[in-house]
Amino acid sequence: MNNDSVLSGAWNRLAALAARPGARDIRARFDADPARPRRFSASHGDMTLDFSKTAIDGEALAGLLDLAHAADLDGFRRRLFAGAMVNATEHRAAMHMALRSRAADALHAGTEDASAIAAHERGLMQRFVAGVHRGAIHGATGEAFDTVVNVGIGGSDLGPLMATEALTMAHGGVLHARFLSNVDGTGAAAVMRELDPERTLVLVASKTFTTDETMTNARALRAWIADSLGEAAVASHFAALSTNLAAVAAFGIADDRVFGFRDWVGGRFSLWSPVGLSIALAAGWEPFQAMLEGGRDMDAHFRDADFADNLPVLLALVGIWHVNAMGYGNQAVLAYDDRLRRFPAFLQQLEMESNGKSVGLDGKRVSHRTCPVIFGEPGTNAQHSFMQLVHQGTSVIPVDFILAAVPDHDRPDAHRILAANALAQAAALLRGKSRPQVETEMRAAGVPEDEIAAIAPHRVFTGDRPSSTIMVRRLDAVTLGRLIALYEHKVAVQGWLWQVNSFDQWGVELGKLLARGILPDLAPGAPIGRHDPSTSALIARFRGLRDEA
Ligand code: F6P
Repeated sequence: MNNDSVLSGAWNRLAALAARPGARDIRARFDADPARPRRFSASHGDMTLDFSKTAIDGEALAGLLDLAHAADLDGFRRRLFAGAMVNATEHRAAMHMALRSRAADALHAGTEDASAIAAHERGLMQRFVAGVHRGAIHGATGEAFDTVVNVGIGGSDLGPLMATEALTMAHGGVLHARFLSNVDGTGAAAVMRELDPERTLVLVASKTFTTDETMTNARALRAWIADSLGEAAVASHFAALSTNLAAVAAFGIADDRVFGFRDWVGGRFSLWSPVGLSIALAAGWEPFQAMLEGGRDMDAHFRDADFADNLPVLLALVGIWHVNAMGYGNQAVLAYDDRLRRFPAFLQQLEMESNGKSVGLDGKRVSHRTCPVIFGEPGTNAQHSFMQLVHQGTSVIPVDFILAAVPDHDRPDAHRILAANALAQAAALLRGKSRPQVETEMRAAGVPEDEIAAIAPHRVFTGDRPSSTIMVRRLDAVTLGRLIALYEHKVAVQGWLWQVNSFDQWGVELGKLLARGILPDLAPGAPIGRHDPSTSALIARFRGLRDEA
């Protein structure tokens, strides 16, 4: 049998497993096998992934692992860590692991010693951070910086914002951090209204240094600094985080204020690079470095552990089961931790920009489903918004619950309530509540029979709704790094199994291009160019409403 037929055989077996009678039953699997929590979970350090509350049983897990082997996931993993050109459509390696490596790890991207390059840049960042924190690097008027504004969007915003919140919320930070991403002028206006220019350091974070939103906001803040403190002050108040050194120079940011990285770092994987400078400035160098160590530790686990014990591989396979075997098109992520409140937003880009593709590595349309819709909110907030649908809606939506056992605050009572809710949500999704149970409870509460008949159906929970739980001891910086890298590698594994390129993002280009074409048409009196009839009508309506105002 050639490789293709081995692989299609593995997919076919998965389909056959999904077609077994009772393939979606989860409670019945617990009845048959109370040892599921042990058999369907894996740990690395103090992080545990428990996927026992899914319909994956021994046969399904074996089928998923066979699929991983048949797809030569091991070969992909080796090529990824060897710095091969896994991002074929952009002719690049995907070597974000080098950013959290030590120089001695000598990870390469093609012929470049990526670990050495990253370590050098990290040294420059560390010196800069220390200088700012000491006050030796200060604003043009001699005032120490008390606030850092990160101007960036997508990967140049979501990762740094998420990690900064995660690392500073419990104990506060060294500097205040603001994140300006959207081109909506409201955000820039608020920054300029609320911050003191003398004490504000602006980081322009853009891998390409061409992104319209970022450049528009950067120019606004540049004018604000120049108008407030004089043109010469711009040099003191700006730094750039980019791969495009020529464009940075053209913007007027001096070489010694540029922290560079290479094109083998994808935007959504860049928080470990100089794009994470805001994290280090706001939270401190040590937490930033500890987060990198956590990422490095997860890299080693992903690279070395057998698939059956490998957290990123298992998390990916659980997702493959849900998307491809069960046909579920959504995935919710509920971190029961306010510090991770932007984690779902970060994952939305990480997962959907990476694997939201329908053309395979061979250039042909794929015949299977790929990335599900990812969404989430912190628990318990989610329980009071969309969890109604997850419990009783017509679609089955698998959930990842994330929970730390030890809080970083002195309200253990609150943390126990939080944890009880996380565990209860997962239990409720599994267990459900049958019609007879509902009726018995209503009868016991003295509800009249006609009321029971009318209301009981609405109070039934089908149960058998899948979830996984990721539990850690404490959400410290190392654990945060592990958690982020866990999902990064999950995404890479899924992309490989779906045979799409997880590291490009051509799907964002068309809208950018059309926006540039529409922009001139929005100017007062400009002729409206050729668009589809709906867009032309909306442009005319927009102009009419604006001109009347
Ligand atoms: O949305 C597309 C994208 O290219 C993302 O991949 C990237 O994270 C974001 O734009 C920002 O790009 P840059 O860092 O080059 O400004």
